[in-house]
Amino acid sequence: MKSTHLLAATAAAMLCSTAAYADSLTLYCSADEAWCQQIKTGFEEKTGITVDMTRKSSGETYAQVRAEASNPKGDVWWGGTGDPHLQAAEEDLTVAYESPMRGELHDWAIKQAEAAGNKTIGVYSGALGFGYNKDLLAKNNLPEPKCWADLIKPEFKGQIQIANPNSSGTAYTMLATMVQLFGEDEGFEYMKALHKNVNQYTKSGSAPIKAAGLGETTVGIVFMHDAVAQTAAGFPIVTVAPCEGTGYEIGSMSLIKGARNEEAAKQFYDWALSAEMQSKAKDVKSFQLPSNKSAEVSELTPDLSSIKLIDYDFKKYGSSEERKRLLAKWDTEVSSLPQ
Ligand code: F6P
Repeated sequence: MKSTHLLAATAAAMLCSTAAYADSLTLYCSADEAWCQQIKTGFEEKTGITVDMTRKSSGETYAQVRAEASNPKGDVWWGGTGDPHLQAAEEDLTVAYESPMRGELHDWAIKQAEAAGNKTIGVYSGALGFGYNKDLLAKNNLPEPKCWADLIKPEFKGQIQIANPNSSGTAYTMLATMVQLFGEDEGFEYMKALHKNVNQYTKSGSAPIKAAGLGETTVGIVFMHDAVAQTAAGFPIVTVAPCEGTGYEIGSMSLIKGARNEEAAKQFYDWALSAEMQSKAKDVKSFQLPSNKSAEVSELTPDLSSIKLIDYDFKKYGSSEERKRLLAKWDTEVSSLPQ
């Protein structure tokens, strides 16, 4: 082959490999598996970009992004509670981006971005609560739980499931909520009392209510939208907004620092903030409140304005120091206790 031909062939091969590179995206997804799958295929169909998606809980994904920091494998982290996204932003694991879609979002989604120098943004919101299997409750002769205080009563021993706050953003939201609702000392006393009634700490935040749906536990402490999803799927689950008040999440999205497919990641980011994308969540029984003001909201989405919400301090409880401190304290003072 003449050298000019060789050069042309090499250039063409390089272009091809660049194109192949730009035509893929590695997505770390921390919402429900069905929603993650819908998003993967939705973006592939929309853009022709192949998405390599991994679903892991919020705390687990944060740990993975952190472990991979010197050789990042993921491009974008979508979904999961906002606290670990804020921690990742503070630790410089993610990068700032101001999407042209910002004008379409609710203030709470923008506030989340502003709290992190635009290194993250809100994609949905939802309140923490719990759900119970009404058939099992009746069978076990248990009173209807309405408040957080009910869940630590001795008759609920072995009847409650919640995730581990190290892996799960839901369970970390619970821990931070108790500290904010009752004060740190009383909040930890509550978690210790709850520990006596817990039959299992799961990895994923929504697993406890799926188990309740299947009759494997009576109560699951989860986001209320996850309990509603089980009722919508036909299981005998009743959703409760605890009487004392409760915390909530701002499910978030961040671009990973050093992403190999930065352009595709930004394209995904803009699309994930669109009303078109967010309106489809309800088709896979994800009933969070969307961050795009024009996205369709399911009638099954819990109405946050009718729930007694605490003024959750995302900046504080999403800070690296506070999140690490609370998790370490939970490990030593709560989970190590005998049941
Ligand atoms: O998709 C359900 C959901 O509850 C989200 O609303 C939330 O952000 C995420 O799961 C939290 O999951 P985990 O507790 O497993 O981190």
